[in-house]
Amino acid sequence: MPDLQLDPSRLPAHVGIIMDGNGRWAKRNKLKIALGHRAGTEALREIIRNSSDIGIKVLTLYAFSTENWARSQTEVDALMALLLEFFGSEIDELHAKGVRILILGEKDGLPPLQRQALMQAEQRTAENRGLKLNIAVNYGSRAELLRAARLLAADVAAGTLSPDAIDEAALEARLYTAGDPPVDLLIRTSGEMRLSNFLLWQCAYAEFVFPQTLWPDFTLADYHACLMQYQGRARRFGGRQEA
Ligand code: FPP
Repeated sequence: MPDLQLDPSRLPAHVGIIMDGNGRWAKRNKLKIALGHRAGTEALREIIRNSSDIGIKVLTLYAFSTENWARSQTEVDALMALLLEFFGSEIDELHAKGVRILILGEKDGLPPLQRQALMQAEQRTAENRGLKLNIAVNYGSRAELLRAARLLAADVAAGTLSPDAIDEAALEARLYTAGDPPVDLLIRTSGEMRLSNFLLWQCAYAEFVFPQTLWPDFTLADYHACLMQYQGRARRFGGRQEA
């Protein structure tokens, strides 16, 4: 149910979410970690649907970082299985809503089934013009910036780009998020207050909100509370607010 207090004309264009706390939620409920991630995936469905409904332009979710491979094989397998399941069950509805899906990260490092499902989702929704849904999988922001630096260097070496022409726009155009507005609102659940290698460049002027709620318990009301907090902030982008 949409929050009547939200000002639709002042919504963030780009929301990033670090969905943290699945493990603690599982522990608290005496469940296996895989069930924590499953509950987290359930919470996610409603947030995506509502973001599309209220007119958020870009939603970027941190689903699996390059560091997450270090977790136990059981947990990695559970997350990979959930990814596959998610795309299998959600893609028809997302496509019908006009959602465009883009995967941020190294798809080549993923198991073949997952890689194929993610690529199919991207291809199928490529022409959609509704919510842009970025899902960061096998993603790290430093790796993304290094990749952009390499792409710039390759263009310079090929003679198609002059070093003097390397400006913010040139680098931005080589990020996975090329063409997206910068992140306006970054939400990290579970009370942790870190970026953890997520969208470092894109969050340069983002507003941060850190709700205590563990991700599987994060409801639409919590989401709207974050949006309300955002709308209450004075954004100066390094300038000075006029009195
Ligand atoms: C952090 O919780 C969460 C993750 C590492 C994975 C997030 C993934 C999902 C919500 C589901 C899969 C995503 C899609 C798009 C289907 P944590 O396990 O680090 O929690 P903890 O800090 O309490 O241990």
